[in-house]
Amino acid sequence: MQLRMVVSFHFRSKEGEVVVLTFGMASVTDIQKSGSHKLIDALLEKNITPFVTLFHWDLPQTLQDEYEGFLDRQIIQDFKDYADLCFKEFGGKVKHWITINQLYTVPTRGYAIGTDAPGRCSPMVDTKHRCYGGNSSTEPYIVAHNQLLAHATVVDLYRTKYKFQKGKIGPVMITRWFLPFDESDPASIEAAERMNQFFHGWYMEPLTKGRYPDIMRQIVGSRLPNFTEEEAELVAGSYDFLGLNYYVTQYAQPKPNPYPSETHTAMMDAGVKLTYDNSRGEFLGPLFVEDKVSGNSYYYPKGIYYVMDYFKTKYGDPLIYVTENGFSTPSSENREQAIADYKRIDYLCSHLCFLRKVIKEKGVNVRGYFAWALGDNYEFCKGFTVRFGLSYVNWEDLDDRNLKESGKWYQRFINGTVKNSAKQDFLRSSLSSQSQKKRLADA
Ligand SMILES: *[C@@H]1O[C@H](CO)[C@@H](O)[C@H](O)[C@H]1NC(C)=O
Ligand SMILES: *[C@@H]1O[C@H](CO)[C@@H](O)[C@H](O)[C@H]1NC(C)=O
Ligand SMILES: *[C@@H]1O[C@H](CO)[C@@H](O)[C@H](O)[C@H]1NC(C)=O
Repeated sequence: MQLRMVVSFHFRSKEGEVVVLTFGMASVTDIQKSGSHKLIDALLEKNITPFVTLFHWDLPQTLQDEYEGFLDRQIIQDFKDYADLCFKEFGGKVKHWITINQLYTVPTRGYAIGTDAPGRCSPMVDTKHRCYGGNSSTEPYIVAHNQLLAHATVVDLYRTKYKFQKGKIGPVMITRWFLPFDESDPASIEAAERMNQFFHGWYMEPLTKGRYPDIMRQIVGSRLPNFTEEEAELVAGSYDFLGLNYYVTQYAQPKPNPYPSETHTAMMDAGVKLTYDNSRGEFLGPLFVEDKVSGNSYYYPKGIYYVMDYFKTKYGDPLIYVTENGFSTPSSENREQAIADYKRIDYLCSHLCFLRKVIKEKGVNVRGYFAWALGDNYEFCKGFTVRFGLSYVNWEDLDDRNLKESGKWYQRFINGTVKNSAKQDFLRSSLSSQSQKKRLADA
C-alpha cells in the first residue's frame, strides 16, 4: 500500500527542522510530537510506502516577503537547499519523492486570479480587493517558469548527489479532460485541443522537450519566458514518473482572448470558455459540487480514461501514479450523513472502472492510485467547509474517527485487488444506484 504525504516547506529554519504533515492519518500536532522519522518508520513497519511531496503550496511567508517566492529566481537555490536537507534526512527510507504538487495551480490561482496564496493579481482583476499586488497577464508565466526550473534543479540534485538512494522522483500535474462543447463544430474541437495545450502542454512540453508549446508561443508572445539551451536540457526529461491528479472534465468552446486589457488574466490566453454543459444543454454526468454562487460542477468518469491515454500517447508512455482522485461532501452534513457517503463510492468506483479499462485496453503504465483523501482534511482554500475523507474525522477531537461507507468499500476493493487483480468485476456490482449502473453498462 502507498500513502501520499506532504513535507512542509520549512527549509529556512535555523534548527534545520522539517515537519511532516499527513492528511487524515493523524493530527499535525501528533506528528510534530512524535517526529517525522517515527511516522515514516511506523508506515514502513506496516508495509505502507510513503510518497513525500516537497512543496504542496505552503511557501514560508518570509520567502514571499523577501522576494515574492516563485516570482523570483532565488527560489531555485532555496528550494534546492531544502530538498537537499530532505533527501539527506529521509532519503534512506523514502524512495518516492514528489517535487511540486499541481504545477498549474500556484501560477493561476495564486498569481492570475489571486484566489489562492500568495494572492496576487492585476488591480482590475481584483474585484474583491484581496490581492496585494500583481500582474495577471505576466506573472503566472514567470512563476510557472521558475517552478519548472526549481523542480528540474531538484531532480538533477537527486539524480546526481543522491543516486545511491535508488529512489524515484517526479512532479504532480493536475489534469482535466476537455470535450468540444459542440462536437460538430470545428471551432469547439480546436478549442478543446488548445485548452489541452494551455493546461497540460504548458508543463509537459518543457518536461519532455525543453520548450513551450508552439501555440502558446504564438499567442502569449514575449510574455512567455524562454529557456536557455542549458535550462532546456535540465528541464527535458526531469522525471522518473508523473503524478497525475484527476477530478473533472469540461466542455470547451472558443471565447475571444481580451489581451491586452486591464482585466486580462493568463487563464484567458487559451481563448476558451469552459462549461459543464454542452451545446445541447446536457450536463457531463453526476453532480460533483453544488455551488449556488458560481454554478454546480459535474463529473465524468470516462475523462480519466482519455487523460491517461493522452499522456501515454503524447508524452512517451510515462510511468504514472494517479496521485489524487476524490469527491467532497459539504461539512454541513452531520456525522451520520457524512458516513453514509454512497455518492463517494459511486465516484471512486466509476473512476477506477475507467482506469482499469484504459490500463487493459491501451496498456497505460499506471502503477498506483491514491484516493484523496484518507481522512477528512483541512482543504486548501476550503478549510473545514468540505470533507474529502474515506474516514470521518471529528475536527474538535482528532482521535474521534469513523471509517465511512466509502472507506469500507475501498478496503474491500483493495483486499480483492491484492488477492486477484484479474477479477475486479465486483467493482461494478458495488455501485449504489441503478442509474449509474446503466450509464456504465456500455463502458
Ligand atoms: C524568447 O525568444 C523569442 C524568439 O527568439 C523572442 O521573440 C522572445 O521575445 C523571447 N522572449 C523573452 C521573454 O525573452
Ligand atoms: C503587466 O505587465 C505588462 C508588461 O510589463 C504591461 O504591459 C501591462 O500593462 C501590465 N498590466 C497591468 C494590469 O499592470
Ligand atoms: C480481506 O480478505 C480476507 C480473506 O478473504 C478476509 O478474511 C477479510 O475479512 C477481508 N477484509 C476486508 C476488509 O474485506
